[in-house]
Amino acid sequence: MQVLGIETSCDETAIAIYDSKLGILSHCLYSQIDLHNKYGGVVPELASREHVLKVLPLVKKALVEAKTEFNLLNGIAYTIGPGLMGALLVGGTVGRSLAYSLSLPAIGVHHMEAHLLALMLEENTPEYPFLALLVSGGHTQIVNVKAPGVFKILGESVDDAAGEAFDKIAKILGLPYPGGPALSVLADEGDSGRFQFPRPMTDRPGLNFSFSGLKTFTLNTINSENMDEQTRADIARAFVDAVVETFVIKCKRAINETGIKQLVVAGGVSANKQLQKALISMFNQEGGEVFFPRDEYCTDNGAMVAYAGYLRIKKGQNDTLSFIAKPRWPLEDI
Ligand code: KG4
Ligand code: ZN
Repeated sequence: MQVLGIETSCDETAIAIYDSKLGILSHCLYSQIDLHNKYGGVVPELASREHVLKVLPLVKKALVEAKTEFNLLNGIAYTIGPGLMGALLVGGTVGRSLAYSLSLPAIGVHHMEAHLLALMLEENTPEYPFLALLVSGGHTQIVNVKAPGVFKILGESVDDAAGEAFDKIAKILGLPYPGGPALSVLADEGDSGRFQFPRPMTDRPGLNFSFSGLKTFTLNTINSENMDEQTRADIARAFVDAVVETFVIKCKRAINETGIKQLVVAGGVSANKQLQKALISMFNQEGGEVFFPRDEYCTDNGAMVAYAGYLRIKKGQNDTLSFIAKPRWPLEDI
């Protein structure tokens, strides 16, 4: 069975083809980073227009690279939420129309469920139930994944998402958009001992997160220091250390509260090497196992959408002819 996946929820146009016997046959991605960089963040209308231009040429490229063709496909999947309304409408419209014209099943996919399922494309996968730390530009959640498609959110950010906080601090430090990867590299040059930033909401029970206070604390530090190169790196380091340790504390708490000892980390921020190192070290001490997708499946990609769609199409699911794009769509409501 072959499923074509279309991802256009934000600033990446990504297409992939998943084959149930062979795995991912091709995955193609066009990143709009250069387009949005000069504005310091994603401009939704520009994102939609760029998706319109890129989506069909990328579909063709993915078919060629997979050495397949439209009439060998068995279904089409596309992200319908959460994300930017206009951007979601582009991928959804193209995907649903292609499926109709080819008389194929069509399935609208939840972006965060797809992120989570990206890990299942790796060799080593967890057993259900497992915990998931979902960390992207729009989401920060700890989830109990009870069974395929059955989620219970144990905690989430009450304000900014982790990726958003990374991007905002990076912007203040003069780093290019998207700031997460660049901030992580700068932090590697910094000294861990120089500044001590708060670990938000770790001094009270529960699994929720908050990053806006940490953001303000970081901004105040920037404003009160003489910002030479080393200070920039030391502040980046203190910020990354604070975010990473907060995640480690909360993940450890989630393990203790649920007794579930396997954790999947997914979404763009899961590509962060400092976070990966700290979580691996925590699991080495505590027992259990932590899983990360390969780098290109941490950030937005088409492979995760093709695979998430395959799982539903295989069960016989098929959307009606119309679809509703859902910019906000809680994971528990799938
Ligand atoms: O999942 P994703 O590609 O798109 C959304 O669904 O939002 O996540 C993008 C976010 C951005 O905020 C980006 O700065 C962050 O993930 N990110 C990182 C790293 N790579 C991507 N943050 C920290 N360290 C990284 N290495
Ligand atoms: Zn994403």
